[in-house]
Amino acid sequence: MSDPQPTPTSLDYSPEHLTQRFQTLQAEFDLGLREASTPEELEDLRLKWEGRKQGRLTLLSSLWLKEAPAEKKKEIGQRFNALKDHIVSELQRAAGSRGQNVLDAEAIDITQPGTRRRLGAEHPLIRTWNEIVKIFQAMGYSVGVGPEVETDYYNFESLNFPPGHPARDTQDTLVITGQERKPLRDRLLMRTHTSPVQIRTMEQQPPPVRIVIPGKVHRNDAADATHSPIFHQVEGLCVDTNITFSDLKGTLDHFMKALFGSSVKTRFFPSFFPFTEPSADVQISCPFCGGKGCRKCKYSGWIELLGCGMVDPAVFGFVQQKQPAYDPKKISGFAFGMGIDRVAMMSYGISDISLMYSGDLRFLEQFA
Ligand code: PHE
Repeated sequence: MSDPQPTPTSLDYSPEHLTQRFQTLQAEFDLGLREASTPEELEDLRLKWEGRKQGRLTLLSSLWLKEAPAEKKKEIGQRFNALKDHIVSELQRAAGSRGQNVLDAEAIDITQPGTRRRLGAEHPLIRTWNEIVKIFQAMGYSVGVGPEVETDYYNFESLNFPPGHPARDTQDTLVITGQERKPLRDRLLMRTHTSPVQIRTMEQQPPPVRIVIPGKVHRNDAADATHSPIFHQVEGLCVDTNITFSDLKGTLDHFMKALFGSSVKTRFFPSFFPFTEPSADVQISCPFCGGKGCRKCKYSGWIELLGCGMVDPAVFGFVQQKQPAYDPKKISGFAFGMGIDRVAMMSYGISDISLMYSGDLRFLEQFA
């Protein structure tokens, strides 16, 4: 390797000469850096340039910089500093990329076992929730949310449960305290069903509407193997011109077949909800025994899964206070509400609903 003198051979301080000399020095360092392939060679290079007594930077500074005429010192100093910065940072980078400074400092002990991150599994409830939502999305439904702390107006009154109506007793819940001074319609409670989001959705947008709303609901029910004071529902709402009960039947029949298999049959029974007319309960043929009768369907061959019906004109009346387009003479719709927990329990053979809220890893690991 050629080894040009770092010190000037002449007293030429012209800018051209300085540029050339510093370029030559930097090129020499760069070549050395490229050729240094082992940690030892890198250390030799470092000593050659950065060494405190005989290092070239030291020599350059003492022999050249210090000797330069006063008026040239600034310019030479700047060039010298640029070269020094280049050398220092390149050497650091090279040492770092070869793992030198990390290992030298013993910052980590590479013989220690690493941290194992255990993969989580989707909770059976959330898995069921997603499966249900996906089937409706494929039919063009959007997905909505609503508040779990709801007003009396949205949870009951606008759904045609007038104050004092006996149907309210079937959905007893927790109410927020200290609201006696508010009018009844503004008092807060934990929502007892996802149906209030029907009203909230229609107030926000004119028809047509096709939406599913999954979420958590609360009721003052004693906990047992099949009841929990907190559980989950999916609400469905479809409003447009000429929506009929046949549309409701076809939609839910398709949904049940998509969820449980194409051999599953559905049947509709008259029922009552204040906010649908007519109303129905929907049963499916038992997907476990094919309708012959087994323990899961209590030997009846059928399992009841949801409530539904045609949106009551009185409900459209409440919505019209904000969205006049919901004129029951021009549009119609259907709605349904289904418990997600029950479907999850059925799908995965879970015998006790409280298992889903226990956070017990022995339970959850079975779904990993
Ligand atoms: N909200 C009703 C319930 O919780 C279910 C339902 C929803 C019924 C929509 C009809 C229409 O029991």
